[in-house]
Amino acid sequence: MCGIVGYIGKRDAIPILMDGLKTLEYRGYDSAGLVGFKGEEVVFEKAVGRVANLDEKIDKHGGFSGNIGIAHTRWATHGGVTELNAHPHTGCNQNIFLVHNGIIENYQKIKDKLIETGHRFYSETDTEVLAHLIEELRDKDNILLEDAVRLALQKIKGTYGLVVVDKRNPYKMVIARNFSPLILGVGKDEFIVASDATAILRSTSSVIYLNDGEIAVLEPDKYRIFNIDNEQVDRTPEELDWDIETAKKGDFPHYMLKEIYEEPEAIKNSIRGRLDLENGKAVLGGLSSIKEDLSKIDRLHISACGTAYIAGLVGEYMIEEYAGVPVEVDYASEVRYRKPIFGKRDAMLTISQSGETADTLAALYEAKEKGILTLGIVNAVGSTISRETGAGVYQHIGPEIGVASTKSFVSQLSILALLTVYIGRKKGMSLVMGKRILDELSRIPEKMERLLKLNDGIKELANRYAGYNNFLYMGRKYNFPMALEGALKIKEIAYVHAEGYASGEMKHGPIALIDKNFPSLIICPQDSVYEKNISNIEEIKARGGIVIAIGTEGDDRIRNLVDDVIYIPKTLEMLTPILVSLPLHLFAYHVGVKKGYDVDKPRNLAKSVTVE
Ligand code: AGP
Ligand code: GLU
Repeated sequence: MCGIVGYIGKRDAIPILMDGLKTLEYRGYDSAGLVGFKGEEVVFEKAVGRVANLDEKIDKHGGFSGNIGIAHTRWATHGGVTELNAHPHTGCNQNIFLVHNGIIENYQKIKDKLIETGHRFYSETDTEVLAHLIEELRDKDNILLEDAVRLALQKIKGTYGLVVVDKRNPYKMVIARNFSPLILGVGKDEFIVASDATAILRSTSSVIYLNDGEIAVLEPDKYRIFNIDNEQVDRTPEELDWDIETAKKGDFPHYMLKEIYEEPEAIKNSIRGRLDLENGKAVLGGLSSIKEDLSKIDRLHISACGTAYIAGLVGEYMIEEYAGVPVEVDYASEVRYRKPIFGKRDAMLTISQSGETADTLAALYEAKEKGILTLGIVNAVGSTISRETGAGVYQHIGPEIGVASTKSFVSQLSILALLTVYIGRKKGMSLVMGKRILDELSRIPEKMERLLKLNDGIKELANRYAGYNNFLYMGRKYNFPMALEGALKIKEIAYVHAEGYASGEMKHGPIALIDKNFPSLIICPQDSVYEKNISNIEEIKARGGIVIAIGTEGDDRIRNLVDDVIYIPKTLEMLTPILVSLPLHLFAYHVGVKKGYDVDKPRNLAKSVTVE
């Protein structure tokens, strides 16, 4: 995720800022920038790509020694990866400078108003709006910087970790937090601000974690914290005894576990601002340019790889059942060499976290070659696939560092549910159905949070099954793809041979594998195919097979049939895959850890496969 570093004190700011950015590189980003000033002299540089590129530009400023500055590594959400869009952002008069982590949802409306009053914008970002708004409020009535920031934040909706400075007063820094972490390092007559403790630990271990809605004004020898209503907040520093490596993963031993725990938050970020509950509609601004064409498509082709492909399979069930559009899902690596038949009123959806997967890009080019509509579900803003598709939906989950796709997968499923409603409501889905799906989707993050409480139990289960060399994963309908996902995860993380199958297929071959050394994991929620799955469980048990089931909370019947059960909360059948994902990911993770493997960087795998 993006990174923030700020410094105000007696030392030279720029080396501290650059050192902080380098410490934050692990979080993933696409561009970087900083501003530092001393009197009238300003160092204001940005660079696309690595922090090293920014370093080169800073070197040209020689021995600049200002004592205040702010820096940022950007993970683009609004506006492509360009120097102009990189932070810090400033207003018309280049006095106010700020860096921001997060998303300002109502930026367009504010931007339009500011343009009407004469403000000129240079970037495509949501963040720049804040710089002009603070400039407008501060300069119009000559109010204090901290008051201008507070009044501006009262006008915006969204998330922020924010650091603001004003060239005209190099002895003051204002910081604020709302749903995007911001930590204040309290040094001796100096402050280091960062979005992540790792960037502070080299200077001080005395920190204050700002809470949501809190603002702080920093001057070299004092700080004051208050809330958005200007009420004083008393906070004292705590001592961090972390080393830098520990701090990068927070309390987690691996990024994969950290990202599994981020799954509820990832869904919140992917659906934020996209639910029109009153009208039962999904709001997907990135598709507005193709809205009409999309409402008329005869068939949707979904092309992707790996876990993204599996997300597409779940999407097939959703879109066919609730939007009434025929869907065909293909491995992207097959589409590019097959002779796919695209009707002129077909569309292709490519799904890709990285937006750079070579096979998926090739399938997209094939669709473009044939002249059909293309759209994407992508996480990396400005990535090749996001630029090559005609329209799309960004996942907004920040970078995923573990090689296994975990939070990205549940994010993609959530967006596919939104896409189902988006298309469905143009094709006959009722307001009531649209509202029901979106209502339940908005409850999924809280249900996922409850599921995280099962971690210890799933760890104990994984430890008991870690010795098996084979698994048969099975599921039906929406959870047949989830059988593939569970099998893929335990393959790639724990190197266990696992087959993913439609439960109904078991009797057509795989049941020959069943014995006491070949356990099965059956996804068997109380849904429309529950009884069929129960029969499969009984067929396995009749042959001495071992069964782990994923069932619905309150289902005592299944507990008496199988060897182990993991319960998930009740939800709509089409949304069960999102809940099922979490135990499948945790199970694979704990088996891999038990076997002593590097679960963040599994052997032979890369995070983004940019070659054929
Ligand atoms: C899934 O856990 C793997 N990391 C891999 O299969 C991945 O889903 C696939 O390579 C697609 O990547 P993408 O989403 O970046 O296109
Ligand atoms: N929404 C801002 C942008 O796109 C900040 C993104 C981030 O958190 O890095 O520039």
